[in-house]
Amino acid sequence: MTTRTPLMAGNWKMNLDYKEGLALVESLGEALKGVDESTVEAAVIPPFVDLRTAQTSIATNAFPLALGAQDLSEHVGTGAYTGEISGQMLAALDVTYVLVGHSERREYHREGEAVTNRKVNSAIAAGLTPILCVGEGLDERKAGKQIEYTVAQLEGGLEGLSAEDARRVVIAYEPVWAIGTGEVATPEDAQEVCGAIRETLAALYDQGVAQAVRVLYGGSVKSSNVAEIMAQPDVDGALVGGASLKAEEFAKIVRFADAA
Ligand code: PGA
Repeated sequence: MTTRTPLMAGNWKMNLDYKEGLALVESLGEALKGVDESTVEAAVIPPFVDLRTAQTSIATNAFPLALGAQDLSEHVGTGAYTGEISGQMLAALDVTYVLVGHSERREYHREGEAVTNRKVNSAIAAGLTPILCVGEGLDERKAGKQIEYTVAQLEGGLEGLSAEDARRVVIAYEPVWAIGTGEVATPEDAQEVCGAIRETLAALYDQGVAQAVRVLYGGSVKSSNVAEIMAQPDVDGALVGGASLKAEEFAKIVRFADAA
């Protein structure tokens, strides 16, 4: 069990328009009433076009929910970058978290280490907390190379970051073979790589950074498997896709400690 405040973040991906998104925020907010935010933090990460309505609902109702975005531009502030959304624009919407380097961005948008690293930096420049996603595919897993592959992505994503900035980053370990497949990594698989991530942070920076940074697990997390994953010492929360689209199910994930 972690000593850091767990973070349960719901990545909606390309699902729910702003009306549907508002309905989910409202039912989730109600379901989470009374949750002690000092013991667990919950975040929703909707599509860009849902952010404003979600922000208004969270603020008006004082829901115990933080807001995240699924991506940001590598470019800072404003400029002639058609179709891009800057970190500063997200910060103006009370966005706290932003996903960077999700495997779907890496695969479908050819985002490699260099752009991922620039996005981490842009997020930090805007005062956002990047959730840097890393994790191996099935080939690397079968070859037993999950740690070296994941650690290389971690080092690439964090390159050039000061210790002070690195402390603010959240890392999400998401083995690609477990995303959206129903194929959840065993708690031991999750711990093995999350532990290696923390050791790498200690080697790159120091123990202070390694102990401060939250390392999430992601990949087919559900209310029925979250408790055993959260029981691992180096797992500090979950990045949840499919199961975050249902208020009751995601609320159960956030309240994992009640069931444990
Ligand atoms: P999943 O997605 O929970 O649907 O497997 C996780 C993610 O991609 O963040």
